[in-house]
Amino acid sequence: MARVKKRTFSAGQMIFEQGDPGDCAYLVENGQVQIFLNGSNGYFPLTVFSEGEVFGEMALIDNQSRSAAAKAITDCSLIVVTREQLIERMGAADPVVRILLRVLLQRIRVQNGRLAGNSLEAKDLLPIKIDQTSQIFERIQIENQIYSGLMNEEFEPHYQPIYATTTLKMIGCEALARWTSKSSEKDIAPSVFMDVIENSSVIRPLGRMILERCFSDFKQIAKAYKDCPDFFLSVNISGKQFDDPDFVQFLEGVREKCGVKPNRIKLEVTERVILEGPQSLMALKQCYDLGYKIALDDFGTGFSGLQYLVTIPLHELKIDRSFVHHLHSKPKNVAVVESLVFLAKQMDLSLIAEGIENEEELHILSRLGVPMVQGYLFSKAVPLKQLLKMPRQMKVSMSQSA
Ligand code: CMP
Ligand code: MG
Repeated sequence: MARVKKRTFSAGQMIFEQGDPGDCAYLVENGQVQIFLNGSNGYFPLTVFSEGEVFGEMALIDNQSRSAAAKAITDCSLIVVTREQLIERMGAADPVVRILLRVLLQRIRVQNGRLAGNSLEAKDLLPIKIDQTSQIFERIQIENQIYSGLMNEEFEPHYQPIYATTTLKMIGCEALARWTSKSSEKDIAPSVFMDVIENSSVIRPLGRMILERCFSDFKQIAKAYKDCPDFFLSVNISGKQFDDPDFVQFLEGVREKCGVKPNRIKLEVTERVILEGPQSLMALKQCYDLGYKIALDDFGTGFSGLQYLVTIPLHELKIDRSFVHHLHSKPKNVAVVESLVFLAKQMDLSLIAEGIENEEELHILSRLGVPMVQGYLFSKAVPLKQLLKMPRQMKVSMSQSA
């Protein structure tokens, strides 16, 4: 393993001058460092850093020169943090946090300029690029709209029916959050809000509301489908929801209140449940042990490596729509689906395909042995009332299936 890069300075030695280009930041291992300004007011001490403190980070973060000078007060040993190490971490941070950090640094530079007696103003410094921020703040705005939409009860679950491929009987449905703005009376496309929701904390209150609503709706659905005792409800649960320490208790509370058996509920998760941390995976295991069915959603896309098939407790794989789309003209997709049928069989998992839009796709999936399907060919996600009126048996010409 490479050794930690260190630099030593003796008492009184300059570490860098104000205005120097910044090549690295420092973590003080031992000793004391004076940070000071040199301006028209002369020498102006700012602070002293000692063991465990970091300095020299500003020039790397905002890519400007050293905002102050640094001098060793005592003999010091400093651990070097390279530009690459810092930039890499900055790159991984949320874009809003990155911009806010730069704004704060700009303010410190202006303040330092005043303390040093220089007439430095924000306009004299590198501008903070607004073209990037506009997109970022648009996202924040959507987040705000989602919060107020939640307060205004503009979200509700709709249900997309799921069919057995061989009989074309409806055997379950997936609850999907839908948003109708009360002010514009327009439906807002899930593509606009789902990504924002899943990456922000609003998923927790929204997810809870959807769970409460769809469990209570499922009481009516199960009653309407009482001749089909295995009729199930699929709900999408994000990693952030599982990471909520009270999630399982909440889930169990709503389920018991509605008198639904756990084996009729399918929790659709993605591999992100693991990326969220050990707490999420533990919560998922708890749900598995309680008897909930677990389906791995969007399988084959994103980071869904085969590793997750062994780490996540599972009952079902959900083949992502991208493999289903245009199956008839994409032999490679047929090969993928065929392999997934084999894989599911070997691992004793059930299998479902989503995003079916035409009969050709259905015929191929049926021929390959995918047991369950959902998609626009049958129905989009519909409100509860509409779902209850839908035919239980679909009629599609299966003439090509032979
Ligand atoms: P940088 O600009 O790279 O080099 C000088 C360092 O001094 C700077 O990073 C910060 O780590 C530190 N620094 C600058 N201004 C202040 C201040 N006002 N108070 C405390 N530390 C400062
Ligand atoms: Mg899903």
